[in-house]
Formats: sequence, structure tokens, C-alpha cells
Amino acid sequence: MSHKYRILLIVSGGIAAYKSLELIRLLNAISCDVTCILTRGGKNFVTPLSLASLSENKVYEDLFSLNDENEMGHIELSKNCNLVLVAPGSADIIAKMRAGIADDLATTVLLCTKKPIFVAPAMNVRMWENAATRDNLQELTSRGVNFIGPDKGEMACGEYGYGRLSEPNTIANYISDFLISPQEPQINTEVSSQLLFGKKAVVTSGPTHEAIDPVRYVTNHSSGQQGHAIAQALSKHGAETVLVSGPTNLPNPNNIKVVNVKTAIQMLDACEKEMPADVVVCAAAVTDWRIEAPSKQKLKKSEKVKSLKLSENPDILAHLGQKRKNRPPLVIGFAAETEDVIKNAKKKLFEKSCDWVVANKVGADTNTFGGDRNKVQLINKTKTESWPEMSKADVGNRLAIKVAEHLSDLKP
Ligand code: C5P
Repeated sequence: MSHKYRILLIVSGGIAAYKSLELIRLLNAISCDVTCILTRGGKNFVTPLSLASLSENKVYEDLFSLNDENEMGHIELSKNCNLVLVAPGSADIIAKMRAGIADDLATTVLLCTKKPIFVAPAMNVRMWENAATRDNLQELTSRGVNFIGPDKGEMACGEYGYGRLSEPNTIANYISDFLISPQEPQINTEVSSQLLFGKKAVVTSGPTHEAIDPVRYVTNHSSGQQGHAIAQALSKHGAETVLVSGPTNLPNPNNIKVVNVKTAIQMLDACEKEMPADVVVCAAAVTDWRIEAPSKQKLKKSEKVKSLKLSENPDILAHLGQKRKNRPPLVIGFAAETEDVIKNAKKKLFEKSCDWVVANKVGADTNTFGGDRNKVQLINKTKTESWPEMSKADVGNRLAIKVAEHLSDLKP
């Protein structure tokens, strides 16, 4: 069968190496011809014969095998594919990639390839959490290496946590997305990359309710969908995430600490309590004013209330963005505008001292409030990126990846 794409699959050491057999089958199904390199460690868990039988290709093992070098040098091997996939990627091979060590065929190929590299890590949870691995991951991410997973769960060694190889179909879907649109950043809301592992994110979402009396309040149309999707995405990419939410009808996202608040003052207070954080995303539509002295009893129509005295609410974004001890290194605001979207958003960027503004158009001709799609621009002090219309989940995912890239660039 002729395949459309070629993948060089590096199988490194680890109990999860057996899953590479299923992975080859799934990659074949998405029209990928797979050639395997099996490391010495990998060979302890899977045989060259089984990889060769499933891939229907020769399996390469040793850098110094004369035959292989004659047939196809390691440079050729790395040129002759659409991408290189390391699955499972052990802590050892990840560390060697970071250091540029080339002491076997797999690491030599990884050092000389100019093709996109994808790594699906698999290791014990403590190795995954070790500062050396975290550091290697951040550095490789900033060099453009793509990580898929790992997943959280029970490990072969009996421990529990992050470090399980992502399921073969998750890896294959990720690769498929990339091959179909290689120019686009990875948008796959099903995938958790752990790029933000060790980072803390605080997200505000939803509207706030400002009481007039015990039964009435002032609010706005925000559904909270975009803010909740951003919190979900940041968490999926490994950040310890706190969602500070005004009243919404949405279910609480999984694995996220949710602090439910009603008013702007409570929202500010809840955010302050969560500082310090690495990133704050203010997606809430905070009600700009509150009733100065809400009535303790329900107001009666007969009382003929003619006016309500309003006070301005604190601006949470401006407060968190201002220069101060513990200012998060990345503060992101939203600008929902009915006109002059970019101009108004840029103004907000400076006035509220935030680092990025996600701008979108709202109003009668858009379906932003309450809808599940969004078309946004990401604006910072020097440039504006226009994103195509996509689901709010995809906006969250894309923003989370941008955040991860930015935070790894900030690394001293
Ligand atoms: O000024 P405007 O309300 O349009 O600004 C929108 C941005 O400011 C959003 O990021 C919103 O979450 C934030 N904001 C805030 N506190 C307020 C008003 C707005 O955090 N009181």
C-alpha cells in the first residue's frame, strides 16, 4: 500500500515501548509509512522483529552497523521523512536531545534532522517532576520540539501521577492534525501537553452580579464560556489552575480549583488570595458599577425608586497588571468591543498595564455572547495576530500554547 507521508519513529527504552506496535498500526491507517529506529534501551521491551513486521520496513538499531550506513546513512534517514516521532520518549533521550549528545543512531538522527520533532514522553512520575526533566522540556519546547502528553494515571511501577505514555490514538490524532495543516500551531483540544507543568494560572470568568436588593441585581450577558474554556486548556497543558468564576450556568471544569464569587469586590479578593501566579487571564465581564447601598429588604414597587446611586467597581485587570511585588509575569486581558476593536484593545493594553489583550467583536451582528465560537485578535505591545474563527475551546487551547511558549522564553 502506498502511503502519503513518512514518519521516522524512534522507540526508546521504557515499559511503554510495547504501545509503539499499536501506534505503527494507527499511523499506517492515517497514510503514514513508518520506519523505526530502536534504541538499545527500547530493545529490552520490544523486539526489532515485531517492529519490522508491523511497519513492513527495516528496523535500524546501531549507528556503526556498516550495512545500514551503506544502505542509508543517518543523515539520509533524518531527511527522508515528514517528521520524527519519539515514542516512548524516555527521560534519558529527552536529556540527550537537550544536551546535543549523539552517542547512538537515534540521538544522532535527532541532532541532525531539520524535520519537525514530536516527543511522547513516558517515565516514572518522579522522573517527570524532577527539575532536570522540567528544565529539559522547557528548553526543548523553546527550540520548537513538540511534546504530546504524558498522561496521568497508574504506572507500571505502582506509582500514580503524570508520566504515562499518551494513548496511541491520541498520539496518532496529534500527528494527523499536524500533517494535515503543518503551518498551523497544534490545535487539538484532546491533547494535554504538560507544557505548563509547574506553573500557576488564575483565570476570571463569567459576569458579576451587583445587588440592588436581595432579589434583584445588575449584570451583563457574559456566559463564561470563553473564560472556562481557557481555564480548562491551561489545566490540560499542565498548569495548576484556579478559576475565579462569577455566576454562570456552566459545570465546573474537571481538575480545576473553582472559587465561586458573585460581586466584583469578591472576585478581586479571590484573585489576590491566589497570588503569586505565573499567568493571570482576566476573561470575566466584570460589572463596572455596583449599587452604593443595596437595600437589605426587597424594594417594593410602591417605594417608587427613581434612581440608583452607583459606585465604580475596582478594575481587577488593572489592579493585577500594575507594577508591584508579585505581579504575575504574564497578565492577559480581554477587550469585547462593538467598534474600532483593535484601536480600543490597544488602548486597554496600555491603560490597564497588561501584557496581552485578547480582542473580539461583540454586538448584534456577532454570536460571541453565549455562542460557542469566537474570532479573536491577540494583541501585545508590538504586534497583532488575527486568529481565524474557531471554537472557544480552540481559542483556549491556542492561548494556552502561546502562554507556555512565552513563559519558557521568559526563563532566565
Ligand atoms: O474596560 P473593559 O471592561 O472593557 O475591560 C475588559 C477587561 O478588563 C477584561 O479583561 C475584564 O476581565 C477586565 N476587567 C476587570 N475588572 C473590571 C472591569 C474589567 O478585570 N472592573
